[in-house]
Amino acid sequence: MGCFSCAGKSRKNASNKKPDDQIPSSSDKTKSNMALDVKKASKDGGSEYIAAHTFTFRELANATKNFRADCLLGEGGFGRVYKGRLESTNQVVAIKQLDRNGLQGNREFLVEVLMLSLLHHPNLVNLIGYCADGDQRLLVYEYMPLGSLEDHLHDLPPDKKRLDWNTRMKVAAGAAKGLEHLHDSANPPVIYRDLKCSNILLGEGYHPKLSDFGLAKLGPVGDKTHVSTRVMGTYGYCAPEYAMTGQLTLKSDVYSFGVVLLEIITGRKAIDNSRAAGEHNLVAWARPLFKDRRKFAQMADPLLQGHYPMRGLYQALAVAAMCVQEQPNMRPLIADVVTALSYLASQKYDPETQPIQGSRTGPSTPGTRRE
Ligand SMILES: Nc1ncnc2c1ncn2[C@@H]1O[C@H](COP(=O)(O)OP(=O)(O)OP(=O)(O)O)[C@@H](O)[C@H]1O
Ligand SMILES: [Mg+2]
Repeated sequence: MGCFSCAGKSRKNASNKKPDDQIPSSSDKTKSNMALDVKKASKDGGSEYIAAHTFTFRELANATKNFRADCLLGEGGFGRVYKGRLESTNQVVAIKQLDRNGLQGNREFLVEVLMLSLLHHPNLVNLIGYCADGDQRLLVYEYMPLGSLEDHLHDLPPDKKRLDWNTRMKVAAGAAKGLEHLHDSANPPVIYRDLKCSNILLGEGYHPKLSDFGLAKLGPVGDKTHVSTRVMGTYGYCAPEYAMTGQLTLKSDVYSFGVVLLEIITGRKAIDNSRAAGEHNLVAWARPLFKDRRKFAQMADPLLQGHYPMRGLYQALAVAAMCVQEQPNMRPLIADVVTALSYLASQKYDPETQPIQGSRTGPSTPGTRRE
């Protein structure tokens, strides 16, 4: 992995901020010692310091009440994630304890920490610090109070609020902006590789942030079970050319983004084996429907209960259809997706004044759930 520079080298939509401005102030408050300083070459040949904070294992054990079960937020392919409160700053954080036998090695861990430390954007989850104590490897992230997009789209408990159209477009546009930063502002570009609903985390007001954009590369090549779990887990999001040849490009991320956008619009999972034959794979189900605009309304999530703008639905589906095209070179650049979705997100739908779509949705009963 090369040197990552987020400053001034953007090919598109360059941020005027200096990298120092992009380091969140929360890091400054952390009192832990700063063991990892990285000199980063800047455009004019100078260098600037990027600091990642280190925590001792004890500090993180204290923060999570010794990794108590009731602090557990969830578990993914790399280990468990706990909610914690740092004693030194009182800051609430999410702490990912990596499986010790799932690590490739210390060097890879540090490279990932460096990469995460250098990538800062309002739509990327912020890495606050890390712990490399003995054989323990932990990552400390900002805490995202509303959990993952997956939690809000699929298998909703009866008391959970369904996402309305405006929120869905806001989340889609924000996630696209995070991906755009990885593709167009990082130098060299970062290919996410693992874009999916569970990696889009939500903050207050449903502000979306991408997570795990560095960790995806930590997966051990030699660990058979682990690798197959990850392949299974991301199967429905994987671009066909990547699945067949292993060739990874920025356009593979655009494909995965298209799948996420389809999930946001339809409320269907990327892979859902509980559905009827022919509907297991979301993209395969959607492709024939894309060809007939009259079928677009059938694709809207029934949980929306017709509360969406027909024009907006057409446009959002058109973007998704372009992203999931078989041929990578036919897919748009993520910057173009950002432009389209930012426009869609700016067009607020008001259910009070705008028509409710479709006859099959029936009367509006906000508590009604999909079977
Ligand atoms: N920063 C965070 N704030 C709040 N919750 C988080 C945070 N990071 C992760 N989580 C929660 O912890 C759970 C596990 O996350 P994790 O990233 O380990 O697994 P995953 O995203 O489900 O799968 P994968 O390992 O493939 O990324 C998720 O359900 C997520 O909602
Ligand atoms: Mg994740």
